[in-house]
Amino acid sequence: MSFEYAPAPESRAVVSIKPKYGHFIGGKFVAGSKHFPTINPATEEVLSQIALAGKAEVDAAVKAARKAYTSTWSKMSGKERGKYLYRIARIMQERAREFAVLETLDNGKPIRESRDTDIPLAAAHFFYHAGWADKLEYAGLGTSPKPLGVAGQIIPWNFPLLMLAWKVAPALATGNTVVLKPAESTSLTALLFAEVCQQAELPAGVVNIVTGDGSTGALIVNHPDIDKIAFTGSTEVGKIIARAVAPTKKSVTLELGGKAANIVFEDAPIDETVEGIVNGIFFNQGHVCCAGSRLLLQENVAEEVLHKLKNRMEKIRVGDPMDKNTDVGAINSKEQLAKIIELAAAGDAEGAERWSPACNLPGKGFWFAPTIFTGVTQAHRIAREEIFGPVLSVLTFRTPQEAIEKANNTPFGLSAGIWSEKGSRTLWASQQLRAGVIWANTFNKFDPTSPFGGYKESGWGREGGRHGLSAYLKGVSHE
Ligand code: NAI
Ligand code: MG
Repeated sequence: MSFEYAPAPESRAVVSIKPKYGHFIGGKFVAGSKHFPTINPATEEVLSQIALAGKAEVDAAVKAARKAYTSTWSKMSGKERGKYLYRIARIMQERAREFAVLETLDNGKPIRESRDTDIPLAAAHFFYHAGWADKLEYAGLGTSPKPLGVAGQIIPWNFPLLMLAWKVAPALATGNTVVLKPAESTSLTALLFAEVCQQAELPAGVVNIVTGDGSTGALIVNHPDIDKIAFTGSTEVGKIIARAVAPTKKSVTLELGGKAANIVFEDAPIDETVEGIVNGIFFNQGHVCCAGSRLLLQENVAEEVLHKLKNRMEKIRVGDPMDKNTDVGAINSKEQLAKIIELAAAGDAEGAERWSPACNLPGKGFWFAPTIFTGVTQAHRIAREEIFGPVLSVLTFRTPQEAIEKANNTPFGLSAGIWSEKGSRTLWASQQLRAGVIWANTFNKFDPTSPFGGYKESGWGREGGRHGLSAYLKGVSHE
């Protein structure tokens, strides 16, 4: 027997979106010159006009950040800086509903996820780093750790506010000031965060937010008065940034793509594993750098796992992101949808077998049904390239050693998952896997205390935890 879910829409009355936005520079909103639209990807409705920062605006933002760094922020005690971070964290909690609704409208992710994951975790990052601000001498990072100066921060569209928090909170806690650029399709929560900075009476220029596209990002990367670049996004742009900063004195951290193996051993608890597989690839429409996008099944349990996985996928609710019952929302942009369609077509053409549950996708907006490909081999593009969508590539293995070889056979190394009831096997496998984050009997668990980052083409450096602090301090090795 199955039950139908009645619609349970979240109200958008809690947010007021302005028809047009400017930049946040030196503590004030300043008008932009050129603008471009930001849309709701679930409906294609234009939500607002976002300003495109050019050289003059980026210069002004860097100047404001430099001034705030020298005159105020670098001179302030850690205890005082911490108070501002606590204040920001509390205001984010107070305005959580507003942030969640705005994030869902601008990004297309289900309200359940923005409400229960993105916004609480963003606030948690500020709370966690507020606690470090006056204890940096005790972090094991030197007796008198010093900030780098002005940080240029460029973030993607998949977790807009959360990625902002990952960047801004450690930078501020360690005494740096920032110029941040959100992704072009998801600027609205960063602009609401600018209001929070005003509300918290953060000294002018400590946080500056300029909006725009890759051209604005490049102006930040190449600005001579920036000391550090922190980037999250595609490996392709990460390589451009690495080349641009190589001949300069800038420090850099890069959080790039992934193609994580989610490995299911024969002794795994199958029902829990199926939940973990679903969460691993369909959370946030699969727009997750650490998504468990390659499922490696031990041959003798493969049939059972796939059978249960398909049954479970039949129950995934795809549709209106503002509905509190929705599991999978809209694909963030037309361009991203085109990329997913193209890679899935390559899966068909190269001989893998595609399966999706029956689902009614809305007529407007950008949608892709949860999909699995079986019969995938290591040579297939869908086994090698990051799809960044709700598409799972399934491979099989016979021995644990073969699982490790397949898992590590990738240019990436961001995350991995292990499903097994045997502790010894889990420990053995986690030592063999070349991935920065390894989950055992769970997936996509995030916490500000835990460092996050990758090997190889997944990036440089770590964010979060004590390791993440070192990326914003002078003379500390960035392991
Ligand atoms: P992207 O890497 O182009 O965009 C990320 C950020 O970088 C945005 O703020 C963008 O404006 C900025 N940017 C673009 N070009 C730049 C440049 N030359 N210099 C400085 N900043 C620049 O990612 P995009 O095009 O949105 O997505 C393409 C693919 O990248 C996705 O299909 C996915 O596979 C991957 N991706 C991975 C992410 C991750 O978290 N690992 C996040 C976003 C995308
Ligand atoms: Mg948008």
